[in-house]
Amino acid sequence: MPVTSRRPSTASSARSTRAYAVRNSPIHGRGVFASRTIRKGADIIEYRGRRISMEAADELPDSDPDNPHHTFLFELNDGRVIDAGVRGNAARWINHSCQPNCEPYEDDRGRVIIAAKRTIRAGEELAYDYKLNVPGRRTTHVLAAYACRCGAPRCRGSMLDPEKDKAAKVKRGKSK
Ligand SMILES: C[S@@+](CC[C@H](N)C(=O)[O-])C[C@H]1O[C@@H](n2cnc3c(N)ncnc32)[C@H](O)[C@@H]1O
Ligand SMILES: [Zn+2]
Repeated sequence: MPVTSRRPSTASSARSTRAYAVRNSPIHGRGVFASRTIRKGADIIEYRGRRISMEAADELPDSDPDNPHHTFLFELNDGRVIDAGVRGNAARWINHSCQPNCEPYEDDRGRVIIAAKRTIRAGEELAYDYKLNVPGRRTTHVLAAYACRCGAPRCRGSMLDPEKDKAAKVKRGKSK
């Protein structure tokens, strides 16, 4: 889940009522839901966890023994990874959507913040586009393993980064 960088938002981040709650999700397992209106641009939650190298992340045991493709990892701009399986907070339950209402960014202290991409109403599930990078070719098996069930009208059917897919097709000479 790569992030973009931008200026820190000040919008409603200082409000005292918690903006979200964790509960079961129609997308997958647990999810995070808005418990009040969250204005566009507001910082919602930091994605916390220990920071480790990509090599160390590759060696980790499965975060869900029933699903080897389940991940609590968040890829940072410097190539390291946040492992929310250790010292993680509620942000680790935020699911992926192809038409997300949230967007992660890295602030000037290197923290990953999940912010509102648009105004979000109470009861809506929070989601951002994971844009996952997985090494190797996107075989039928890989595509099935990372299939998206976000239910958005324009769901692209995958949690993988669509830009990486395009780049790979160009490299293999399959682009029009
Ligand atoms: C950071 S966890 C999110 C919390 C997750 N719902 C749970 O209960 O563990 C990320 C994992 O949730 C699942 N997931 C999240 N969004 C999904 C989606 N749109 N479609 C299918 N699975 C999803 C995938 O297994 C993914 O690896
Ligand atoms: Zn989708």
